[in-house]
Amino acid sequence: MTKRSVNIGLCGLGTVGQGVIELLAEGGDVLRTRVGADIALRHCATRTPKPEINTLGATESRDVFAVAQDPEVDVLVELIGGTTVAKDLVVAALEQGKHVVTANKALLAEHGETLFALAEAKGLTLRFEAAVAGGIPIIETVKSSLATNHVTSVAGIINGTGNFILTEMAAKGREFADVLEEAQALGYAEADPTFDVDGTDAAQKLVLLASLAFGQRIDVASVFKQGVDSVSPTDIDYARELGFCIKHLGIAKRQGSAIELRVHPTLIPKSKAIAQVDGVLNAVMINASGVGELLLVGPGAGSRPTASAVTADIAAIALSIAKGDQPSALNMGIPLAYFSTASIVDIDHVSSSWYLRLEAEDTPGAMAAITQCLSERDIGIASLIQKLDSPDVQRVPVVLLTDNASTAAIASAMKAIEALPSVGGQVTSLRVEYF
Ligand code: HSE
Repeated sequence: MTKRSVNIGLCGLGTVGQGVIELLAEGGDVLRTRVGADIALRHCATRTPKPEINTLGATESRDVFAVAQDPEVDVLVELIGGTTVAKDLVVAALEQGKHVVTANKALLAEHGETLFALAEAKGLTLRFEAAVAGGIPIIETVKSSLATNHVTSVAGIINGTGNFILTEMAAKGREFADVLEEAQALGYAEADPTFDVDGTDAAQKLVLLASLAFGQRIDVASVFKQGVDSVSPTDIDYARELGFCIKHLGIAKRQGSAIELRVHPTLIPKSKAIAQVDGVLNAVMINASGVGELLLVGPGAGSRPTASAVTADIAAIALSIAKGDQPSALNMGIPLAYFSTASIVDIDHVSSSWYLRLEAEDTPGAMAAITQCLSERDIGIASLIQKLDSPDVQRVPVVLLTDNASTAAIASAMKAIEALPSVGGQVTSLRVEYF
């Protein structure tokens, strides 16, 4: 049976919710043509009254669960964020037989297994294009467009706030806190920006991407996390001098039958395409058996780009409903019964090149002692800079780039270097990827 109007229930009228209303209003005619039915905003709910927002004639409620209970609503859009009420809301909507669209990566990273199982059991769609990399259509790409590929790695800049901060610090020498405040004002950062800063947001997105790409269940706690707040202006300057820029990356890579999962600041050669991805832009690189290497770039946060992904999900569901088809319940691309539990490589056994920065006495033998700490652990040196800016100072900065070494080996070398009498203070380390 075909349907002339597909009814949407929108929960949450924050930055993204408002963008969704704008795009539904602007795109009404195009959507009607494409979908073959009206997409009507039937019911909106927000805990804080927002009388200034035109909700296009929708019923308005303060209680988000009223939307889940509304028999007229076909698709519930969850944009309230968080993992407690949001989880109950999505469960309630699925229990009521409604399809769900969400932008909530925290919810899916934490409770995805339960929610996807419930959706599949009920034969309902749970779509989440906006949960990863904002406006970039990465979920649909991995889930459907690469269906015949064996994916070997997924890596990228997947937090817009972090990239905005690093770009502004590098280009304009701005202070971290000042740029973070601007990212909040622009609607890029999470309500509580801690997750943007400490790598949690990127880890949640990486888990969703890697799960889809590798067809495996992944515990978000197994992702190694280092936040963008560990990057100092000094390291940005030295990296630039060495021909690199620093980006905060999420990396998921097959290593035999296990996978590496890590989010951390990373030095990348300036000549690489991903090194040019600045500001709030995100970029996702995929290596896959059929297509080879893909790089998708686009706005990773913000009201309209994220709303673009949400409304694309709404349109995809509406198209099936309007045609009288049951929308697909293969929300992770394949039936959940085919999912295995991923075995994650211990971070100590993950290898890369490294950037090391320390301060050492400018005396004969000091440099030899440092390089010995590395060579004793079979770690080669690719470049070395010793700064002799002021001949009077006791200690001078030393910056090294190493060859490939495991996290465990570099940690051991750093400990030995820090114990040298000619070295003062801690050694700073950052990973280097050449892609
Ligand atoms: N706070 C997130 C970011 C929003 O900055 O990437 C998009 O998920």
